[in-house]
Parts: sequence; C-alpha cells; structure tokens
Amino acid sequence: MGAIVLDGVRKGYGEDWSWQQVIESVSLDLPPGQLTAVVGPSGCGKTTLVNMLAGFERPDQGRIVVDGRTVSGPSRDRMVVFQESALMPWLTTYQNVAFGPKLRGDLRGRELDREIDRLLDKVGLADFKDKYPLQLSGGMQRRAELARAMINSPSIMIMDEPFRGLDAMTRELMQEFLLQLFEETGRTHFFVTSEIEEAIFLADRLVVLSNRPVTVREVIDITLPRPREFHMLSTPEAYDYKREALEILHEEAMKSFGGDGAVQSGLVEAIARRG
Ligand SMILES: Nc1ncnc2c1ncn2[C@@H]1O[C@H](COP(=O)(O)OP(=O)(O)OP(=O)(O)O)[C@@H](O)[C@H]1O
Ligand SMILES: [Mg+2]
Repeated sequence: MGAIVLDGVRKGYGEDWSWQQVIESVSLDLPPGQLTAVVGPSGCGKTTLVNMLAGFERPDQGRIVVDGRTVSGPSRDRMVVFQESALMPWLTTYQNVAFGPKLRGDLRGRELDREIDRLLDKVGLADFKDKYPLQLSGGMQRRAELARAMINSPSIMIMDEPFRGLDAMTRELMQEFLLQLFEETGRTHFFVTSEIEEAIFLADRLVVLSNRPVTVREVIDITLPRPREFHMLSTPEAYDYKREALEILHEEAMKSFGGDGAVQSGLVEAIARRG
C-alpha cells in the first residue's frame, strides 16, 4: 500500500497576464514502502507538489495516482506534516491527537485512549500528554504532530520540510526518530527538504528538481544500508550522492542568475571541487 504515480503533472497560477507556470511536467513512479526525499531550489514548487499529492490542489494537466486511484481530494490515507505547527494551542497533546478520530467518531472511549497512549509512548511524549503545545519544545511539538498524523494509520506520510527551524541537535534526533518509525512501519514517505545531507541520510531515493517551471532533473537511488546510522554520511557513496545532487542544484541556481554559460559551468565545477 502507498504506491504513488505522478504522471505528467503540470500546474500554474495566475490570470493570463500574470500566469506563472510552476510545475512544467513531473512524472515519478514511487513504489510503496519507500522513503522518497525531494530537494529543489528554494521557491521552485515543492510545496505545490505536496499540496497536489495531499489533494488540497489539483494538477492542471496530468494526474496523481495512489494505489491505482486518481487523487481527487484530501484523504486520511495521505497525511501531511508541514513545517508550521498545526497543533491547536488550546488543546493538550492528548486532545490534539484525539481531535481527528473524535471528530469522525471512528475511534472512541477506551479504544481511543489505548491507541493514543501507544502512539504517545512511541513518540516519547507519554509524560507530556496533558501539556499544551506552548509547554512543549520544538522537537516535542514535531513529535506530537507525527502522532497526530499517525493515528490515522495513513498509507502515505507526506512531509514538507518538517524539521526546518529546529536547532541542529534536535534536528538530528528527529531524523533518527523518523527513521526508526519508517524502518519499523515500512510506510511510504514523501519527504521534502532543503538539506541534502538530511535527504541522503533518510531516503531510498532522492528526487532532484529543477528551477521553476519544475521538472525532475535526476532520481538518485540511495543504497546505503538500513538501519541507517550517521557515520554512513561520511562514506564515499554518500559523498558521491551529495556531489551529484549539489552539482545539479548549483547548475539550477546558476541558470536562475542568467549570464554567460562558460562562466557558470566554471563556477559549478569550482563549487563541486570545494564540496
Ligand atoms: N496558491 C497559489 N497562488 C499563486 N501562486 C502560488 C500559489 N501557491 C504557490 N504559488 C507560487 O508557486 C511558486 C512555488 O511555490 P512553492 O511554495 O510551491 O515553492 P517551494 O519550493 O515550496 O518554496 P520554499 O523553498 O520556499 O518552500 C511560488 O512562486 C509561489 O508564489
Ligand atoms: Mg515549500
């Protein structure tokens, strides 16, 4: 469960005069149970892709198919965790996690309590279930968000730079934590990040996007063994992945500056040598 196909997806915004093509054409075939990391230049259209996969927006052309069905709207089968906290500040951790199931009435009473306790235990928040979001650290808030998404048992977790803004230490802990959950559940993950190392550390495959209008520049299979450990980021394989992805991203960045091609490729080589 959780196979994703993007087939010739195109998307733009605006009126005739102000039309901006954001996604030129994106086709991807993502097998179930894999963690796909998506990197691309800042502002290229990553969140636009996330919104379409989540079903919040529709492609202008092409389609997105999940487990054989065309995505036509949001579903609890595809949960999204955004960078901005979506926790409700007036509800405790427990109440935040319980909110969705209670609203739908599909889990209640002791069954709901047990499921929430199990999840809060998993995300290390058992002792914080009665605290409000403002009483939690940044990392704890993200973990509460994860629990809130996981209570729906989605087949796909969509994450849009979920760890942006966390300090370096907390971010590393969150990466390890996410990997543990991923390796344990084998759920499909679509993970957008602007950090190449984070992408390589987490992913089975790394999708490198172009500048706007977005196309897929490269899909790199990351074959580092699992379970992943941080020291794997210092291996020659990891270095090669990083170099390959960075070269493409620098090329795309140079394009957006315009100017002389020879100067640009010289710059990219220099940056790649340095990296
Ligand atoms: N609803 C919308 N209406 C109009 N324009 C939009 C809309 N959503 C996105 N855009 C435009 O699409 C482009 C891509 O935005 P998007 O947020 O998808 O990029 P991103 O890669 O996620 O950026 P960042 O790196 O900052 O997270 C931007 O130029 C943005 O202005
Ligand atoms: Mg974004």
